[in-house]
Amino acid sequence: MFKLKNMPLDVFNNILVTTIPGLEDIVLDDLKNTINFKEGIKCPNGLRGKVLIKGVSKVSLERLLKLRSIERIIMLLGSTKIAKKREGLHAIYKYCLKLPFEYFITPHTRIAVISQREGNQEYTSLDISRVVGQAIIDRIINEYGIRPPVDLDYPDIAIYAEVMNDTFMIGIDTTWPYALHNRNYRKYIHPSSLRPTIAYALVKLSRARDKELILDPMCGGGTILIEATLTFPHLKAFGMDVNQVFVKGAFKNVSAAGVKGRVILKVGDARILDKEFPNVEFDRIITDPPYGIRMRPRGLKELYERFLRSSLSVLRDNGTLTLITIQRRLTLSIASKLHYRTVHLRKIYQGGLYSYVIVLEKRVS
Ligand SMILES: C[S@@+](CC[C@H](N)C(=O)[O-])C[C@H]1O[C@@H](n2cnc3c(N)ncnc32)[C@H](O)[C@@H]1O
Repeated sequence: MFKLKNMPLDVFNNILVTTIPGLEDIVLDDLKNTINFKEGIKCPNGLRGKVLIKGVSKVSLERLLKLRSIERIIMLLGSTKIAKKREGLHAIYKYCLKLPFEYFITPHTRIAVISQREGNQEYTSLDISRVVGQAIIDRIINEYGIRPPVDLDYPDIAIYAEVMNDTFMIGIDTTWPYALHNRNYRKYIHPSSLRPTIAYALVKLSRARDKELILDPMCGGGTILIEATLTFPHLKAFGMDVNQVFVKGAFKNVSAAGVKGRVILKVGDARILDKEFPNVEFDRIITDPPYGIRMRPRGLKELYERFLRSSLSVLRDNGTLTLITIQRRLTLSIASKLHYRTVHLRKIYQGGLYSYVIVLEKRVS
């Protein structure tokens, strides 16, 4: 009954991947190094955090699933312009009714439609799910004479539908229900753990290369250390945190990630890196310091000042210090008074707030 075998190969030559808004260029680079495609579009139709790749030849889902920068992979079935008025819903229904769902949905496949919407349409995302679901059911009934079951909790297949202003897109979310940023190594969850996709982006933006030595002096649960060592098989890393509980947690995660032999962890203070690491020179310092939301402003300023200053004594010339913070002004103002050059600055959107990735290069003395 299952017709996947008969599916024309060109059904899936467009793929939409999702990421953290602000990291689309990193995703596009990773995609270019992984699969062949004709065109890559960052933020298609203004959709932030999305990259559309068109004209994909020979898609290897297995290879895509290994990319550390992406969160979801949606095999696009189609896209069309759609009215914002209520009639738009009927047009969505008619458009979906023509799509070949029977290639991968049988009367026994449990389906769920997950919809999103942005813009001022006269309908909601629930309306979109309803009409798309109805079109799929009608198509399968026409084909097999049996109605497929809808199961929003445990579907066999998750259909993604999105209306962004005047554009409708539909596809199969191959990553449902667990987006790819849910890494298996997260045995210990730090109270302010960094999203692994962002940790990976920090490593990339730091200009780290294989065989280098990196330090995360405020490592928490060790996300940056793990993403760095999993990205570069010969890179070695030191991790440190002032809180022993977090260092123990990082050890659990590092062990689960299988990189225990390449990561050294210790308890210590990022304000005195010269004393913590008197005989080590790092190529990169990459870290996610406290943002200061629960700290006294004085304490925060002192932490950033002493951390940036003492980093200079353990960083090699032209080495980089990369950090993610909401404290852009404070960081740049301290850096401008020290021996640093700002080589990269970008804004990303995470957990409902904007933060900045700042890459500072140690100037040659
Ligand atoms: C935002 S959290 C890091 C989370 C980490 N990136 C993760 O994914 O689990 C910041 C960490 O900085 C640590 N920290 C704060 N002040 C420090 C200091 N002076 N020296 C070392 N670590 C410090 C905190 O204990 C906390 O674990």
